[in-house]
Amino acid sequence: MDLQIEYFTDGTGFCEIDPLSINPEYLADFSIYERQPLSDGQFRFRCLLVNPCSLEKHRLIELLRFWKKVYIHEKQANNYQEYIKNNLAYILMHDEIEISKKTNTLIDISIDVVAKYFETNFANAGDVKKSLGDVQKLITQAIAFISDINSLNGIVQLIGHDYQTHTHSIKVGWLMATFVNFNKDLFIEEYGGNFKEFLIQAAVAGLLHDIGKVKVPKNILGKKGKLDNLEYIVVQCHTAYSASLLFDSGLSRATMQAILYHHENEDGSGYPSGLKQDQIPMISKVCHIVDVFDALTSKRHYKASKTPIEALRIMTGENPYIETLNKFEQEARENRRTPVTAIVRDDYDTKLRRLREKQMVEEEAKKRVEARTRLRDQGMSHCFDRELLQRFIFTINQSQGFDLSEFL
Ligand SMILES: [Fe+2]
Repeated sequence: MDLQIEYFTDGTGFCEIDPLSINPEYLADFSIYERQPLSDGQFRFRCLLVNPCSLEKHRLIELLRFWKKVYIHEKQANNYQEYIKNNLAYILMHDEIEISKKTNTLIDISIDVVAKYFETNFANAGDVKKSLGDVQKLITQAIAFISDINSLNGIVQLIGHDYQTHTHSIKVGWLMATFVNFNKDLFIEEYGGNFKEFLIQAAVAGLLHDIGKVKVPKNILGKKGKLDNLEYIVVQCHTAYSASLLFDSGLSRATMQAILYHHENEDGSGYPSGLKQDQIPMISKVCHIVDVFDALTSKRHYKASKTPIEALRIMTGENPYIETLNKFEQEARENRRTPVTAIVRDDYDTKLRRLREKQMVEEEAKKRVEARTRLRDQGMSHCFDRELLQRFIFTINQSQGFDLSEFL
């Protein structure tokens, strides 16, 4: 690609990159520029390095440390992205790169990989194999970082953001890796002699736990109101859809269990199988805790995000309205809609009448979702293994960003 040695622009056409992200062991196929301000808001971009191969390694390391800010031409942005993807492990384990930069890099690359996985054509075995390979490659590169207890400081900076399936999946994978690594003793029987592989598989499970949602119609997933009976059942099917999509993938038994049973509740009120207590595999219980914690601390269109303390109060709280909550859940399964046809009767314009009816159903449904959420927020301790939840609190409390002493 033909690039000039020098450019004079207002800054457009160039992207800033961190010089420390360049691995001296793995040479880059993009040119690096410095930026010098000129008058009238213009800049001079001068090429610092056309070909890193031309330098000795120790000299390159010195320069990368010396340069505070460097730039690449946008024509080579894809080369840089690919380079970062292949050198993620180097960046994540670099002592001099700030944790916020590592977190942002990890999230950017992961979103790309997870989004591609969610868009996979599952009818094509080759596509499935490739995108699963990309997920495993990503986790293999990131595992040392995400399973390190100190990386929880990176998770803290992601708390309270809008709920997005891809980011949620990444956070669940990350928290699962940290939890499993910090609580190895719980999984001795499962990992046999290969803990690292078990750890990778746990993180992969977190990343893919909701993959079955690709089979749930978008208008159901994005619905702003109460789900009707069929919709509710279809959403609950996402765990079985996940297992079905990944059936021949070669993922471990523990990974498949985590994915299939991550909505089972300790008291047997969950799905798909209504398992309870010891019937629920340990890894699935972990996935459930992490999933709910992240969902509660994320912003949704119908609710504000909870702080970690508020989320854990809900998760550890006894629900005084458990009977009502169960009835509510039952009602949702049976889909008792409020009749609205009686409310709008006098409109001669059928289209308008139907529109009004639809609006009323939606408003009513929204109220019901809010009521259900409020009721659920009174306490969810019946959903989780108490001891495991305590361990989870103890684990994330290792990060300075979470002060959870009131729970310990
Ligand atoms: Fe789920």
